Amino acid sequence: MQDFTADLVLRGGTVVSGNASFAADVAIKDGLIAAVGAPGSMPPARESLDVTGQWVLPGAIDVHVHFREPGYTHKEDWETGSAAAAMGGTTTVFEMPNTDPPTRSAAELRAKQEAARKSYVDFGLYGLLAEDNLEELEGLVAAGANAFKCFMGNTFGNLPSPSTGAMLEGFEILAKHGLRISLHAEEYSIMANRTRRLAEAGRNDPLDHLKARPAIVAVEAVGRAAALAEWTGARVHVLHISSAAELRPLAEAKARGVDITGETCPCYLLLDSRDYGRVGSVIRVNPPVREASDSEAIWHAIRSGLVDMIATDHAPHTPEEKRQDVIWRADCGFPGVETQMPLMLSQVAAGRITIEDYVRMSAEAPARAFGLWPAKGRIAPGAQADIAVVDPQRREVIRAERLHSRGKITPFEGVEVTGVPVHTLVRGRFVQRDRKLVADAKGWGRQVTDIQRMPPAKPQNADLAINALAPRRGKDAA
Ligand code: NCD
Ligand code: ZN
Repeated sequence: MQDFTADLVLRGGTVVSGNASFAADVAIKDGLIAAVGAPGSMPPARESLDVTGQWVLPGAIDVHVHFREPGYTHKEDWETGSAAAAMGGTTTVFEMPNTDPPTRSAAELRAKQEAARKSYVDFGLYGLLAEDNLEELEGLVAAGANAFKCFMGNTFGNLPSPSTGAMLEGFEILAKHGLRISLHAEEYSIMANRTRRLAEAGRNDPLDHLKARPAIVAVEAVGRAAALAEWTGARVHVLHISSAAELRPLAEAKARGVDITGETCPCYLLLDSRDYGRVGSVIRVNPPVREASDSEAIWHAIRSGLVDMIATDHAPHTPEEKRQDVIWRADCGFPGVETQMPLMLSQVAAGRITIEDYVRMSAEAPARAFGLWPAKGRIAPGAQADIAVVDPQRREVIRAERLHSRGKITPFEGVEVTGVPVHTLVRGRFVQRDRKLVADAKGWGRQVTDIQRMPPAKPQNADLAINALAPRRGKDAA
């Protein structure tokens, strides 16, 4: 017996890590995991919850969500987006900078920190790396940006893609801080030409969106970004991996020792070109859902660890914005943060991956890649008590109207899932309990800046040092 009183003990469950599952009780005190062990060894507790037959997982860490505030709050805001995360067993999100205004300076980051005060779950905030804000990067870091986003191709928000020259300088600046740069890795000009040619020819079906963005756009972008990362020592992350072809430049970069990670999202694993007819314009997303052979290759890559993690690219739009007869008018993306865990647990139930694989991809790998490990991403003494308690047998049917996101539309409408998070705890506090949002927990989420550890990256080509010629100064650097 231990000589303190815990706030909560989860009793009778199966604790899961990235490489093992074992029967254990979990004691929580002051927001941290205080003990993990056999039932008899737990301290006395103010509350004890029976989770027999359930899995105790580290909450998902989703490094790719768009919560739309400021600017597009008719699609989502921090309250609705983070509520969806809480309901989906996701305890930390990293939120993207393509809001209006975009998060391209310290002042804009501070405005986002203000908006995020409503969050139910913990969060990191992305700063933008663009053609015209290199002088703002240091200020963004000082103001607390947790990572950076570089849109190499056009997507929602119409942020122009930076030139290779601007990317190189931006990578060099950010390498010093070690913060990871996440890439929307689709080459702009190939897509622009093909989209124009298709539209001019009167082609406007959902599948024409796929034709406009062949996988070469990703092959080119991943290869180029990896070369720049290797040259500068910057850490990079390939967002939403959608194709078999881009796995090759990813694998080659890893083999060369580039600090590069990759994610995929449920839509690239569970949908393919055969679904365009049934789902219609709702399926439009960047990069596009591709062929069954691409999904198959990505399944292999998540099992092998080549693709490190699962994220969602939670990108809500209204049903009206998504349902369009002309595909070029449909906004790209759909909500995902609430459905990711049930969809992936259903794949565990179907035997396509193990529950340990899932925890490695949903929690451990993102925690390590974005500097949150060992404080987050694991169920172990001393870690923050960010927990998804899952009922692996529970069945539900996905219905857009029941989603907590404001984007009440999903390509997974009507899909029956097996395995659902029944409680979500963030730093020891319930944010979802018994499939209900805990309204009081609004605002409990906080930025992860205090636990993030990203040491400076090792410069590969210090002679480059273009940024040493004259220090860049931002408008409102602290
Ligand atoms: C995202 C959005 O709507 O913000 N859309 C998408 O199709 N993925 C932007 C993005 O992540 O590229
Ligand atoms: Zn993207």
